[in-house]
Amino acid sequence: MGKIKVGVIGAGSISEMHFESYKNNCDVEIYAVCDLNEERAQEKAEKYGAEKYYTNYQDLLDNPEVDAVSICTWNNSHAEISIAALNSGKHVLVEKPLCKTVEEAYEIEKAAKVNSGKVIQVGFVRRFGTNTKVLKSFIESGDLGEIYYAKASCLRVLGNPGGWFSDKERSGGGPLIDLGVHVIDLCWYLMGKPKVKSVSGNTYNKLGNRANVTNKSFYKAADYDPEKNTVEDLANAMIRFENGASLVIDTSYALHAKEESINVNIFGDKGGAEIEPALQIFTEKNNTMLNSTPQIDSLSFDFVKGFQDEINHFVSCAKGETETISPVQDGVEIMKILAGVYESSEKGAEVRFD
Ligand SMILES: NC(=O)c1ccc[n+]([C@@H]2O[C@H](COP(=O)([O-])OP(=O)(O)OC[C@H]3O[C@@H](n4cnc5c(N)ncnc54)[C@H](O)[C@@H]3O)[C@@H](O)[C@H]2O)c1
Repeated sequence: MGKIKVGVIGAGSISEMHFESYKNNCDVEIYAVCDLNEERAQEKAEKYGAEKYYTNYQDLLDNPEVDAVSICTWNNSHAEISIAALNSGKHVLVEKPLCKTVEEAYEIEKAAKVNSGKVIQVGFVRRFGTNTKVLKSFIESGDLGEIYYAKASCLRVLGNPGGWFSDKERSGGGPLIDLGVHVIDLCWYLMGKPKVKSVSGNTYNKLGNRANVTNKSFYKAADYDPEKNTVEDLANAMIRFENGASLVIDTSYALHAKEESINVNIFGDKGGAEIEPALQIFTEKNNTMLNSTPQIDSLSFDFVKGFQDEINHFVSCAKGETETISPVQDGVEIMKILAGVYESSEKGAEVRFD
């Protein structure tokens, strides 16, 4: 089998991680690039030696040479492009979140069923962190017992990226759909993907984007623009699962807090674990509580390695060697949770999934 010819659609900030990881994979040829911004598409095509560049994704998909695509566009086009790519016979790696709404998620799932010979993988990159993989092996060996509670927090004090991220029409929401999605998925995945029963959430627009703050730099979208901001700046939620387990999360773009922080913990009846900021496992032996620190290269999420492993896995799935650990059905379940938080906040009441 020859090299997998890849097209990258959306050539902004995160595409760099995809390009670099594809470049390092000897089974891949970076063949095409597409971006609404022609200059950006051309620049990336030149940098990574891609033969073709486009400004219209359908033109890229119509090229029969392309075997697989990464979708790194704004969230509002994930569904449309994923469906078109599957229907054009391409393997798909779509960035998180899978899309903007549950209805869109079901449409993508439908297209995946019709084109079942093609892989669709959702970019839940934290599943590929070494700390996550190591902890999963402990969970699968029964070291944590039954996991009944998880708690995750991903807080930025000044970190609204502006541009499309802060335009609800294009993003679908703020920190919840952008940052919360990672830690919700991480907990849900490690908890064994229990079926969601109900969601109770709150979102707040209290601080705006804090674009007035000086002397402190922060993450910005490729086309940064602080003018429009229609997304929440804080979200929190309590998620209940059918097996009785629960998950509590909070996430922000702007908050009067000491500093940016990420904390992810899961708790079982035999042991618990902190995944972020650094993997540690908590158990009990001989009537003594033990805190164990695995000896691994990185105890927290290693961004570069995580992306490399995600891309390598996708390529291996496209070659038919294995099945994806991040399938479209998981994207649908996570979308239900995210949409549930927004709906619950709007209604001021719990949303049930009966
Ligand atoms: N996995 C992660 O950790 C991670 C991190 C950052 C962003 N992301 C996700 O990646 C996606 C892109 O984020 P980003 O930070 O790179 O944004 P960005 O604004 O830097 O880049 C997005 C690019 O997509 C292009 N684009 C938008 N719609 C398009 C379309 N229909 N056709 C072709 N090009 C189009 C834009 O012109 C822009 O160049 C988002 O879905 C985001 O949630 C994931």
